[in-house]
Amino acid sequence: MAEAGDILLLVLVALSAAVLAVRPDNVALKWCAFLVLLYVCGVIVYRLYFHSLSRFPGPKMAGLTYLYEFYYDVLKAPGGQYYLKLEELHGKYGPILRITPDEVQVNDADFFEKLYVTGSSKRHRWETAGTGKTSPGSIAAAVSHDLHRIRRNSLSKFFSKAAVMRLESRLQSKMASLCQKLEEAVRCGEIINISTTFSMLTLSIISEYSFGKSWDDQGEEFVLTMREGFNSMHLLKYFPVMHYVPRPILEQLLSVARVVSKWETVMLDSRLPESEKETQRIADEALILVIAGTESTSRTLSTAIYHILTQPAILSNLRDELDKAIPDSNAEIPVAKAELLPYLTAVLKEANRITALLTNRSLFTAEQPLQYKEWTIQPGAAMCVNYRAVLYNEDIFPEPERFDPSRWLGDSEEVPRRNRHFIAFGRGHRSCLGVNLAWAELYLAAANMFRKFDMQLHDTVYERDVKIVRDCNVGFPSLQSKGVRIEILNRRS
Ligand code: HEM
Repeated sequence: MAEAGDILLLVLVALSAAVLAVRPDNVALKWCAFLVLLYVCGVIVYRLYFHSLSRFPGPKMAGLTYLYEFYYDVLKAPGGQYYLKLEELHGKYGPILRITPDEVQVNDADFFEKLYVTGSSKRHRWETAGTGKTSPGSIAAAVSHDLHRIRRNSLSKFFSKAAVMRLESRLQSKMASLCQKLEEAVRCGEIINISTTFSMLTLSIISEYSFGKSWDDQGEEFVLTMREGFNSMHLLKYFPVMHYVPRPILEQLLSVARVVSKWETVMLDSRLPESEKETQRIADEALILVIAGTESTSRTLSTAIYHILTQPAILSNLRDELDKAIPDSNAEIPVAKAELLPYLTAVLKEANRITALLTNRSLFTAEQPLQYKEWTIQPGAAMCVNYRAVLYNEDIFPEPERFDPSRWLGDSEEVPRRNRHFIAFGRGHRSCLGVNLAWAELYLAAANMFRKFDMQLHDTVYERDVKIVRDCNVGFPSLQSKGVRIEILNRRS
């Protein structure tokens, strides 16, 4: 935990300086203080002059100490602000930047493909990265490439496209419940918080999908406590003791451990090595699936709803396509049919692009040196490309802040290029495990909502409720966000 180490060093430096200032009689104490200061001087000299990243561009303070990052992520309100500071620093120093003593960020869409690879090149998760730390036994927390392969292989068959399609009837019954809820809202004039409603929907799906039991009873409570957990994510890497968690989340965790028993039988029968079959390890895996599979899709969906409802031309194009393809508004909409609709697909792609959900740095080390222009990144150095830098790259996606589904349509040669850089679900060995499930959810929820209901936004403000302004591992809107809220006007025929 290098980040926590720097905080400890700061405390020790302060204590040592205080000891030397008061000149105590105790010689041993004086020596201790002196040695601490000597050690810290050594660390400073090493990081500034001898570290393999010491000549890389970037502010000296960022290369000198993690306290630089700590300031932006923890002290600067509202927290999780370092990713924004880094955007500013890239403007000043260029695409490659030493962002902490041990990390380099290369904001270049082509380098993304070089770093997040498939095939035989190995990539190890940087050990110090916060990824998956709340569930240390999970796929997301696996540091070594080989351990990750073992864990991923045991799960991937449950999340293949064919596996998702086999469970389509379950997805359809969840969509029917969503539509029922929206019909009731028409009757009662209830305002729907669609961000929370979608999170409960995706939680219901991933819990039933993975464990054969929906957590509908505690859905809202779980969603809200999970968001509380996300809100304190940036503190985790500095204060590992908080691997914790607040009591309500802990209780939810225990309930995960209970329902995990069904899952466990499948895993126990698998070819996983014995060390990977312990209940706690499998519970960790279960928890990460629920966390990764809930807020992600729901955030993308509510962002899509906001943009569609604020742009009448987009709403009208989408409606035209849906009405033509699904003339009977009471009919079930199969995933296979929705997937064939080009405008709906473009809208959902654009929603994924503009949401650019992953603000967290996806940090890896390589076994061979990696070259970026004249810079050689040595094995062991942690590196990442910021997802937002690719998905908001002006050269690939002009006017990146604009929600514009048409950028994915037509014969322009830019479209294949954009598709090549559509990295919302990551790339390579560690890309999104749930991508097929996520797409099925996105298609079904959007097609049902817009084919079957007329709706309008209710007191939803982009800057407050939608725009991502904090890095909480995934991007979150402001602390004041009330979520995307809508009024359902009527059931369409
Ligand atoms: C729109 C929805 C989603 C988006 C945009 C998304 C995006 C991503 C991204 C970018 C990564 C790579 C993270 C990294 O490099 O550190 C990832 C990993 C992952 N996602 Fe998703 N995801 C979504 C939905 C889901 C769903 C529904 C599940 C359900 C199982 C899921 C499960 C996972 C898991 C387990 C990983 C870790 C994979 C590994 O380490 O091998 N995701 N996701």
